[in-house]
Amino acid sequence: MRSLRLGLPLAALFTGVALLFTAPTAHAADTPLRDLAAAQGKVIGTAVTGSKLTGTYGDLAGGQFSSLTPGNAMKWGTVEPTQGTFNWTEADQIVAFAQAHDQQVRGHTLVWHSQNPGWLTNGTWTSAQLGSLLQNHISTEVGRYKGEIAAWDVVNEPFNEDGSYRSTIWYNGLGSDYIANALTWAHAADPAAKLYINDYNVEGVNAKSTALYNLVKSLKAAGVPIDGVGLQAHLILGQVPATLQQNIQRFADLGVDVAITELDVRMALPSDSTKLAQQKADFKSVVAACVAVSRCVNVTVWGFTDSDSWVDSTFPGYGAATPYDANYAPKPAYHGIAEALGGTTTTPPTGACTAAYAVSSQWNTGFTGQVTISCSGASLTSWKVNWTYGAGQQITQAWNATCTQSGASVSCANASYNGTVADGSSVTFGFNASWTGSNPVPTVTLG
Ligand code: XIL
Repeated sequence: MRSLRLGLPLAALFTGVALLFTAPTAHAADTPLRDLAAAQGKVIGTAVTGSKLTGTYGDLAGGQFSSLTPGNAMKWGTVEPTQGTFNWTEADQIVAFAQAHDQQVRGHTLVWHSQNPGWLTNGTWTSAQLGSLLQNHISTEVGRYKGEIAAWDVVNEPFNEDGSYRSTIWYNGLGSDYIANALTWAHAADPAAKLYINDYNVEGVNAKSTALYNLVKSLKAAGVPIDGVGLQAHLILGQVPATLQQNIQRFADLGVDVAITELDVRMALPSDSTKLAQQKADFKSVVAACVAVSRCVNVTVWGFTDSDSWVDSTFPGYGAATPYDANYAPKPAYHGIAEALGGTTTTPPTGACTAAYAVSSQWNTGFTGQVTISCSGASLTSWKVNWTYGAGQQITQAWNATCTQSGASVSCANASYNGTVADGSSVTFGFNASWTGSNPVPTVTLG
């Protein structure tokens, strides 16, 4: 037996290992969400950060989703930080990644009160100047990506909670006509792009969503190019509005598409198995409401991993709002989405510990991988993860675990200090390995 010992004497490798739970599936075995969505005639998307689109983040963004929304890269403050000086780097990168992975792009966002450049918000403008600044911005940005953007969030967050217009640089300077004008200018710059108005707290039937409904109705009647409404869906655990599907349906009945554009479900930290199970139910009911209405065309999550979510910094004390944990292990919420899209879940939703394998970086002769052991409704006091390499890969070094490889079989046991995996938490170990030809992801077994 060719063995590779790291950290512990050989005799210690396979002794004292008492596993409480066994779960043989890694998420690599599940049907990707984008395939499940396609079978339902839907598009499933995620917001992304351009600089992160490599390694496991890139693999999941490209493999699981059929639509990308730049989280910040297309906002005015990003693309024109100084008047007349443009920075399209991250936006271009995301569009190129999407095209390479056969994905749609949702452009976000052209007209908003937030994340505007200082030169714009601090300037003193006449109404005429403000109008032409806005028209130029829309023409420039939409024109740059003409033919490459499936849908634009043209106007973002125009309403107050009571359904009145939000007081913004645009409303205050141009009146409510700014909305029809922005849509008209965007349509002129890219007639093929679907044009949306997007807002939050408009998921259920309420004063704000009714104001949006009345606006869309009047825009349609006036012949203004409006193709869809975006329901952001930044939700709180256990608070999916009961009228979500009814609300989606009433917009569809106006003759516009509907998209869930920024779905996340935040919980008070720390997470535990009860909260994660509720979160699964919440994601599932939102996706199911969209599946039930044919004109609901896209469900996009606002970040797919808890390591790339806006929630933690925006809502202190809250987090864990996305379908994957910070180590890229799929959470019960992931399986909630999959089930609503008609998939069957291979991982028990609660009461289990699972292991997920990921390649975090790869070069011509080697790669770095990681395995995350996550527990939900269960816990471990020690662990061992096994897999079989299918293409001659060879482990050369491991950390935070003791790994041995015999032929194609790899076995990694906890180090002295990380055998305990508490309910609702996870432990990650890493390794370097060599590869030639191909580097397929193996199925890992915990036990
Ligand atoms: C958020 C981004 O995710 C953060 O990175 C940024 O700091 C603030 O904006 N509604 C929207 C999104 O329409 O553009 C916001 O995105 C989240 C709320």
